[in-house]
Amino acid sequence: MDNGYQPIIVGFLCNWCSYRAADLAGTARIHYAPTMRPIRVMCTARIEPEFVLKALREGADGVMIAGCHPGECHYVEGNIKALRRFTLLRAMLRQFGVEDQRVQLVWAAASEGKQLAEAVDRMTAELRALGPLRWRETVLGDLPAPAAPKLEETEVG
Ligand code: FES
Repeated sequence: MDNGYQPIIVGFLCNWCSYRAADLAGTARIHYAPTMRPIRVMCTARIEPEFVLKALREGADGVMIAGCHPGECHYVEGNIKALRRFTLLRAMLRQFGVEDQRVQLVWAAASEGKQLAEAVDRMTAELRALGPLRWRETVLGDLPAPAAPKLEETEVG
């Protein structure tokens, strides 16, 4: 269903595999949803959980982390470290009501432009079905702003 809503996906792409896959998708003129804003990182291990949270907080509807297949990371086990972080981060976000589909981890080799394009299309369709993230309402709820701490008087003896 096309409701006209175009989600924004921030894509953190590994330089050695997935960024090249995105490049290949472009040069091969593969058509896919224009929803991803790619950010090149040297390895998925470089992606701090804060990067994902910042992207979601600042308006992304979803974040895609894409890197080399397990066993093919150019920094040996960087993608395994990324997988561990991703698993923990997604579990934490679930506690705040952020759906699993909003943060996805994809393996895409440099030759897999078509697979990466399909992953972006699939994620776009899932985010369209969910609608905008609305970080403030979803994660912060109706929490009032914290009151300024009171300065306590101290007795000087
Ligand atoms: Fe690609 Fe580590 S170099 S995920």
